[in-house]
Amino acid sequence: MAEYRPAFSQPAPIIFGCGAIAALGEQVREMGRKKALVIFDRGIEDAGIAGKAIDALALAGVGYVAYGRVVSDPSDAIVDEAGELAVREGCDCLVGVGGGSSMDTAKAAAIYMHDPGPVRRYILQTPPFVDTKTPVILVPTTAGTGSECTTVAIISRPELNVKWSAFVNTTLAIVDPELTVTLPKYETVNTGLDAFSHAAEAMTVRAWNYHSDLFGEAAIRKVTRNLREAYFRPYNIEARSEMSLAANWAGLAFNNPVTHVGHACSDAFSCHFHMPHGLGCALALPETLALVAPVVPERMRVIARAMELPLTGRESGEALGKLTADALRGMMREMDMKSLAALGISRAETTALARDVVENHLSEYCPVDVTYDVAERLLGNIYDTYA
Ligand SMILES: [Fe+2]
Repeated sequence: MAEYRPAFSQPAPIIFGCGAIAALGEQVREMGRKKALVIFDRGIEDAGIAGKAIDALALAGVGYVAYGRVVSDPSDAIVDEAGELAVREGCDCLVGVGGGSSMDTAKAAAIYMHDPGPVRRYILQTPPFVDTKTPVILVPTTAGTGSECTTVAIISRPELNVKWSAFVNTTLAIVDPELTVTLPKYETVNTGLDAFSHAAEAMTVRAWNYHSDLFGEAAIRKVTRNLREAYFRPYNIEARSEMSLAANWAGLAFNNPVTHVGHACSDAFSCHFHMPHGLGCALALPETLALVAPVVPERMRVIARAMELPLTGRESGEALGKLTADALRGMMREMDMKSLAALGISRAETTALARDVVENHLSEYCPVDVTYDVAERLLGNIYDTYA
């Protein structure tokens, strides 16, 4: 008999497929909106992707203002700047084009438009959900973050050295795999393993649910089969399409149950070592799964099966954790992912982040109690086992 579990929901419709960005203008016009603030970063502008979004809006007769000053790990100051521009220019919808940073800035800027003033009032460790009414359309250009199909925006509070969240409603996701073919190799692997970590953490979190499992398992299978191909042959549109779908499904998987201690480690790496989010998640992932495997063995068996690992069906949780961790580290080495040591970070600097990991609210969702000792041992293992 199926055990009662927490609810699954997904926030907005998703349009998926090569060339889908062309639908952006028509979609905004059908929403009855007249002027969009288009939010992106310098790389997206240089790759010509911001121009594609703007062209699609112009072709449909929708006005636009461009905000191209997003940086990675955006702070609340960036969000305030974008939101203030949207209010000043009379924009009535927001379009985030890019990786997690641009999409999260767009989501949080909706809060500024809802209640003009510093958004830090809403970027908290346990934030309220803000029903902003402003349409937010999200167009990912990486295959990793899944931010286009979650309600959470992760924003840095640099004065506190933390990343906290805001929760808003989103309106539409447009996922166009063609936008990912120019993604550099290191971003392909970082973001691809971020997607894997969303799926795997959502499947092993305390508040797992049946529907998230479905998307998570399918996402892991797609990443396992396609990430190497997308990395080594970036213009293989089939592999890029599969990765875009995997990242989107992994986003659907973690929207409700959220992630856990792997992401808490990544947040600490990001705040203290200025490491890209996906790289931090990937480095933390093998040992995170090894940590939880003994307490959620059957969930780990599903993950190992989705990774197409050779299984007898008699493995202990611990053995499943070791198998998945070894396979992940193999993928990381194959795709030249740097270790903490290779990045010039010492073991002592790494284990010194134990308090940050314990205090990150995501650690509460880990099926293992994340005490100071557990966090310190986990960080030490992350350092030692991928050297
Ligand atoms: Fe992530």
